[in-house]
Amino acid sequence: MTSSDTIPIRISDDVIRVRGRVRALAMTLGLGIVDQTKIVTAASELARNTLDYGGGGEARLEIIETGLRRGLRVTFEDQGPGIADIDLAMTDRYTSGHGLGLGLSGAKRLSNEFEIKSAPGQGTRVTITRWK
Ligand SMILES: Nc1ncnc2c1ncn2[C@@H]1O[C@H](COP(=O)(O)OP(=O)(O)OP(=O)(O)O)[C@@H](O)[C@H]1O
Ligand SMILES: [Mg+2]
Repeated sequence: MTSSDTIPIRISDDVIRVRGRVRALAMTLGLGIVDQTKIVTAASELARNTLDYGGGGEARLEIIETGLRRGLRVTFEDQGPGIADIDLAMTDRYTSGHGLGLGLSGAKRLSNEFEIKSAPGQGTRVTITRWK
């Protein structure tokens, strides 16, 4: 890991801040405009979920490095109610609210790696990675 940055997500403006920071780091990493937009869009959906369903939380942004490649990883964490049925939540068009139900599934499609950990009463953590 070469850098890391944590952004609180408490209000709608924080979602915009996360977008901006993800865009800036994606540019720093040297991602092309299409890949930049993919991770910005995915991060935006997850930040919105953190706020709307998780009751707020934080995003951690990291430039990660393996021996072979570098990537941008964003982790969203909240201490909200958690998700009882992750498979259902990941299903296209499933929403427990009034959304389109495309946030989680879309974020997965837009990322090279996607990991979700959640349980009732345990909060939710979602990690996405886009490799250069
Ligand atoms: N951080 C979270 N905490 C608790 N539940 C969550 C969280 N993120 C997602 N969920 C649950 O998963 C469901 C699916 O999320 P997803 O982002 O795919 O759709 P949505 O937010 O309902 O609609 P959209 O994102 O398309 O506007 C949500 O409706 C909610 O029930
Ligand atoms: Mg959503």
